[in-house]
Amino acid sequence: MKRRVAILISGRGSNMAALIEAASAGDFPAEIAVVISNRADAAGLERAKASGIAIEIIESKPFGKDRAAFETTLEAKLGQYRIDLICLGGFMRLFTAEFVQRWYGRMLNIHPSLLPSFPGLDPHGQALKAGVKISGATVHFVIPETDAGPIVIQGAVPVRDDDTAEALSQRILTVEHRIYPEALRLLASGRLRLEGEHCRIAGGAASSDPLISPLAK
Ligand code: GAR
Repeated sequence: MKRRVAILISGRGSNMAALIEAASAGDFPAEIAVVISNRADAAGLERAKASGIAIEIIESKPFGKDRAAFETTLEAKLGQYRIDLICLGGFMRLFTAEFVQRWYGRMLNIHPSLLPSFPGLDPHGQALKAGVKISGATVHFVIPETDAGPIVIQGAVPVRDDDTAEALSQRILTVEHRIYPEALRLLASGRLRLEGEHCRIAGGAASSDPLISPLAK
């Protein structure tokens, strides 16, 4: 039985599109049952609709700071679609610790940095400011702290001396679109095991290829 997934978005939805594309394969262990946006103007909604995926809008603004009330409405929708797993794809709203606990081990997020470096806002600007030579993206299980939690998979890219935040974000985005479907595949097929703060992958093999940057000529 395929696991039923809700993707939560707030904007563009390019990771959502990558997940929908991957899940369209017959042998993918999860199906995208619904895309839920907390903003009616999220561009990703049109993309989801074009792919024939059900969409739901739960505007978060009217709830103001009342996160629990927003989550009650969200839970009802998740129940309606019999959701097993949640993927956050640029979902820019914080959850209460209670909601996160309820979905612990069943909710993934992607962040465009090699966590635990550069959580929060403007991770690309943070990476450039720190002068790192390698950055990347991380898919992790969601815990109450923002952009933290057991790491499932990471992908790395070089940072160039002449990078702008925009150029770096584009380079990282291509990695995001590869690792997020892979993380969902592993979770939905039951290959991930949580051990305290760590996530272990059954039969997982780390690549032995190093990424060295810059490479002196
Ligand atoms: C992605 O780069 C994702 O990693 C980031 O928002 C972007 C959403 O783009 N998420 C975070 O920064 C979470 N803290 P998308 O809507 O095109 O997937």
